[in-house]
Amino acid sequence: MSNDLKVHIIAHPLIQHKLTLMRSKDTGTKDFRELLEEIAMLMAYEITRDFPLKEVDIETPVAKCKAKVLAGKKVGVIPILRAGLGMLSGVVNMIPAARVGHVGMYRDPKTLEPVEYYCKLPGDVAERTLIVVDPMLATGGSASAAIKLLKDKGAKSITLMCLVAAPEGVRRINEDHPDVPLYVASVDEKLNEKGYIVPGLGDAGDRIFGTL
Ligand code: PRP
Ligand code: URA
Repeated sequence: MSNDLKVHIIAHPLIQHKLTLMRSKDTGTKDFRELLEEIAMLMAYEITRDFPLKEVDIETPVAKCKAKVLAGKKVGVIPILRAGLGMLSGVVNMIPAARVGHVGMYRDPKTLEPVEYYCKLPGDVAERTLIVVDPMLATGGSASAAIKLLKDKGAKSITLMCLVAAPEGVRRINEDHPDVPLYVASVDEKLNEKGYIVPGLGDAGDRIFGTL
């Protein structure tokens, strides 16, 4: 892998173990979905590590004290439909007060270009930290278009969280959106002639929803 890529690879053993189970062609829809939810939860824990805190005054049953809570507006989680939905519950389990926006993108199978078909976002995107989730970053076209859409609506703080990326997709995000931190569990070897990640895990949406 080229070391000019700007990407945080979350190498936590639990995530890597679960990802290996997901990759296997013998893993069925139920397990695939559960594993993706578990990994999304663990990744959310890692990527929120540097979120800012503020002090508030509270009273425990024993004494008054100052204690820390997350600062700023509520986080927005933005799954890219369809496959991003598979990561949503895991992230929201970790950040229960998060607002959720949906961006619908599908990849034209011939041109591999993203086609937008839906967008519904929480208010005040300009004041929220947005976490865009999609398990697969292949050419990077879908994620790049989704991030551009969010920026056009005023978003200023965006993080992209994917499960598996191809080097081509990482490069595309680095070039199109150098301000967007990118977190993945793995950067795989390459894309094949059909735009699938190798070795990857196949079509994530089909495996999550059982539409193979
Ligand atoms: C998949 C995946 C990404 C996209 C990645 O979606 O979930 O959104 O492909 O490919 P790219 O990086 O080359 O754009 P797909 O188009 O298969 O739609 P789906 O989630 O509805 O199945
Ligand atoms: N979308 C997927 O679901 N899988 C890939 O390997 C590439 C794009």
